[in-house]
Amino acid sequence: MAILDIVYFPSKILREKSKKIINIDEKIKQLSLDMIETMLEHKGVGLAAIQVGEPLRMFVIDMHADKEELSPNPLVIINPVVTHQSATLRSYTEGCLSIPEMYEEVQRPEAVKLKYQTIENKIEEMHLTGLLAVCVQHEIDHLDGVLFFDYLSKLKKDRFINKFSKKQN
Ligand code: CO
Repeated sequence: MAILDIVYFPSKILREKSKKIINIDEKIKQLSLDMIETMLEHKGVGLAAIQVGEPLRMFVIDMHADKEELSPNPLVIINPVVTHQSATLRSYTEGCLSIPEMYEEVQRPEAVKLKYQTIENKIEEMHLTGLLAVCVQHEIDHLDGVLFFDYLSKLKKDRFINKFSKKQN
């Protein structure tokens, strides 16, 4: 396994739309292992392939993200499709490994149903609530080039980007 380099905002790569994975081959399997190692190394709860420069519809998530006392339980999600979103919304303070040390409150559906392929090429469905629902929605957004601060009002978004740019200099 290897720790991969993370692509940081404002790299344009993060705005790319990722492509569906057709063959879950050895290259994809290796990438998923490296992504898990990279996520854990950076103490993230989720990491999309585009965040390591691979425009593929795949992400890894720590299924124990909402249970701090348990050791990490990483899961690889391939070609995810949201099949249901709750009408109820909930706010969470989100962050992103590609946008270090910046956090903002974002409102999203409280629960989601997700269809995806596993690394063994099985089709699975899961229902998530709480932090895990937030996490998968955040990661799926990455596959479409969407970043969490895109949900802020224009004023707040401009302020966020300004603050981030100042931090980088
Ligand atoms: Co992110």
